[in-house]
Amino acid sequence: MPTTGSTAGSVVVLVSGHGSNLQALIDAATHPAYGVRIAAVGADRGDIQGLSRARRAGVPTFVCRVADFATRAQWDAALTSQVAAYRPDLVVLAGFMRLAGDAFLAQFGGRTVNTHPALSPSFPGIQGPREALDYGVKVTGCTLFVVDAGVDTGPIVAQRAVSVHDDDTVEILHERIKTQERQMLVDYVGRMVRNGFSVTERKVTIS
Ligand code: GAR
Repeated sequence: MPTTGSTAGSVVVLVSGHGSNLQALIDAATHPAYGVRIAAVGADRGDIQGLSRARRAGVPTFVCRVADFATRAQWDAALTSQVAAYRPDLVVLAGFMRLAGDAFLAQFGGRTVNTHPALSPSFPGIQGPREALDYGVKVTGCTLFVVDAGVDTGPIVAQRAVSVHDDDTVEILHERIKTQERQMLVDYVGRMVRNGFSVTERKVTIS
């Protein structure tokens, strides 16, 4: 679903930290056949590696901090207009540790995806690998989903399973998940942008 005048579909990526998923998208987007242009990278905090990765790649960046606004709704409205300025076909939350609010969902609901380091509906929230390890599951993984108002509850686009090893730490397990997560993200964001997709109730179909 590319915008007029461009053969590549345009994506805004939102990050909160390390940005290895973002880097995978940046690397993929260097290949014209991937069909995705990263129009901008936004963050809810400055001084993070994700923003440095974007700048190194020559991608415009912006920062929208919750603390700079009197209310969460004002922050959400500001984030929405900063993202909207880049007219993205798809918004990708890649390690973005904030919930999208009403204004954001009104404008970008149905065309925002998020990646989560667990097999939804298990272990929603920001501690997916830790909770999977504490629970003692033998298989966990990652989930790409279309964002809705809940915490990691949206319609599922793709999932990858990852084995849990007896001697795993949270960090080791999360890194094993992220190896799969980066591949899943690059694969499906590319397909969604190149081909378009639809969501019917909870079923996501890529055209
Ligand atoms: C990823 O594993 C992502 O799924 C997770 O943060 C990590 C970011 O890694 N997001 C969440 O837990 C959100 N619920 P990265 O900064 O290296 O891409």
